[in-house]
Amino acid sequence: MPQQSSFWNKQATRYDAAISDHDAQYATRLNQLKQLIKPTDVVLDFGCASGEIALDLAPHVKSIEGIDPANAMIELAYNKAAKRDIRNASFLTADIFDPRLEPESYDAILAFNVMHLVKDHHEVIHRAKTLLKPGGMLFVETPCLGEFTWWKRHIILTASALRLAPFIHVYKFGEPEAELKAHDFQILGARNAPEQDCRASIAAQKPTE
Ligand SMILES: C[S@@+](CC[C@H](N)C(=O)[O-])C[C@H]1O[C@@H](n2cnc3c(N)ncnc32)[C@H](O)[C@@H]1O
Repeated sequence: MPQQSSFWNKQATRYDAAISDHDAQYATRLNQLKQLIKPTDVVLDFGCASGEIALDLAPHVKSIEGIDPANAMIELAYNKAAKRDIRNASFLTADIFDPRLEPESYDAILAFNVMHLVKDHHEVIHRAKTLLKPGGMLFVETPCLGEFTWWKRHIILTASALRLAPFIHVYKFGEPEAELKAHDFQILGARNAPEQDCRASIAAQKPTE
């Protein structure tokens, strides 16, 4: 985790500038989420980075809490919340195992572009399930490096091995979904997008009992 955080701390300003420059993919993702999330929902944004998605979603939910182990990201998120006068969003420098997060307290958890960065997938999914209320929703979006062209995958994995980039898990299409099913999540929707960085998007629901 410390290696991950120092990488993302250094990237914080650049990452924030890139994500704040909303592209068509960003708008589509937000619109889809707005249709699936209710105004009464309490939401956790796992790996929230500089909070852009959490802050854009905040007016459509009861409250949203962003967590990220990179404190430079969380600082940016706080400053943006204050600047935009958004009061139902809060941010914490934390990982998903932080004991301050209450079991069964979230209606929805977002895990966007973060699952490929964690080593302990099953522990993370188990923890997300613990944090969700019965019937709560888990939204996962992750690049699947196993579907990249071999040379692109090779460049990324070499950078990771040389510690120029963080750890990256090589997912193939179907694997993120299978991991969620293994934890008894019901898959409500799944889409693989070879044209969008080989991204897998999944909406999954925790069983009601
Ligand atoms: C690619 S950014 C994604 C940010 C945002 N969710 C989005 O989709 O734009 C990845 C973020 O995940 C955080 N991160 C990396 N490893 C993590 C881990 N093991 N647990 C939680 N967050 C992690 C990083 O600090 C970084 O801010």
